[in-house]
Amino acid sequence: MIFVTGGAGYIGSHTCVELLMAGHDVTVYDNFSNSQWEATERVQRIAGRTMAVVRGDIRDGAALQAALHASGAKAVVHFAGLKAVGESEAEPLKYYDNNVLGTVRLLEAMAACGVKTLVFSSSATVYGVPEVLPYREDHRLSATNTYGMTKLVVENMLRDLHRSDADWRIGILRYFNPVGAHSSGLIGEDPQGTPNNLMPYVAQVAVGRREFLNVWGNDYPTPDGTGVRDYIHVVDLALGHVKALDYLGANTGCVSVNLGAGVGHSVLDMVRSFEAASGRPVPFKVGPRRAGDLDAYWADASLAQALFGWRVERGLDVMCEDTWRWQNMNPNGYKGEK
Ligand code: NAD
Ligand code: WQD
Repeated sequence: MIFVTGGAGYIGSHTCVELLMAGHDVTVYDNFSNSQWEATERVQRIAGRTMAVVRGDIRDGAALQAALHASGAKAVVHFAGLKAVGESEAEPLKYYDNNVLGTVRLLEAMAACGVKTLVFSSSATVYGVPEVLPYREDHRLSATNTYGMTKLVVENMLRDLHRSDADWRIGILRYFNPVGAHSSGLIGEDPQGTPNNLMPYVAQVAVGRREFLNVWGNDYPTPDGTGVRDYIHVVDLALGHVKALDYLGANTGCVSVNLGAGVGHSVLDMVRSFEAASGRPVPFKVGPRRAGDLDAYWADASLAQALFGWRVERGLDVMCEDTWRWQNMNPNGYKGEK
């Protein structure tokens, strides 16, 4: 049994599908602050198996411990948290409360239940401004915004915890830019309000929900002047969690591992790929740079291959085709008409 905090969210829902398909039993624990119950129903439909779903907040230590104990889980995958960079700058305490204090409560509950295997959702944002590219796991760590700092604080907390008690088995997974959706078109990313991230915005332009994409800057020192990122299909990312759990079942330690494709694509690459996949135009206007954006970064993904035997299998075309299927089948997300 695997206990999945934030399992109703974008990456969590896709990971639950792959955990169920791999034969794991799953309990989701989510407060639905940024997700819909419907996502958990669809996960079970895709996998053809049931899972337990508990509505609860990770900051509620007593409820969390009761749910973890009742689940009988042997490991936790911890997705629950807030992720909007701009909001984290405006409301830092909300981010420290959810992401840092929430994780303290989770670790306390795990210790009380004798569950010492954890996979944590970290982010490439912990590398800060690149000193060398691609980012390797031994790159210097720093944060350029409050969201990133909460990830860095939790990473440090996990390393300290492991140093204090070597029985812990911890996988810190540093995601690059997750995009795409399940090939069924039943689950995908469902941002509330105006999307912050590129791919959902592009998809909403293609489907006609927004008029044009704002390209934030075309004067970066990149091949076409637009920002370059390492986009990873969310199903490949989900499979990385299944492999990480297999690894932690056989190895003690606290490892930090990049989950990325190992290649960079520009904003205009994404626009062109999406147009090809959807057969729809994606009009755009070039605007000023977005404050705090880095020009380019991508992963050295070789450690994940060496430790977990994992690498990405889905390219940009599949990322765009699957996003388009999800967007087309669910033009207004899980809630239908908004
Ligand atoms: P998401 O918002 O779709 O999922 C997070 C889930 O956690 C949601 O279902 C939300 O309701 C739940 N949640 C939030 N606070 C909670 C709380 N206090 N108690 C219980 N549940 C709570 O986000 P996602 O894109 O699936 O991201 C999952 C994790 O991966 C997050 O920790 C995020 O920071 C990290 N991450 C995401 C990205 C990305 O670009 N999507 C990149 C790197 C890391
Ligand atoms: C990608 C590229 C933009 C939107 C963020 C977080 C990071 C991680 C992933 C969690 C950039 C450009 C975007 C738009 C655009 N999250 N862009 N127009 O900024 O790489 O990463 O999400 O850990 O911490 O910072 O992702 O999708 O927002 O942007 O031109 O409307 O697309 O400038 O070059 P980003 P993104």
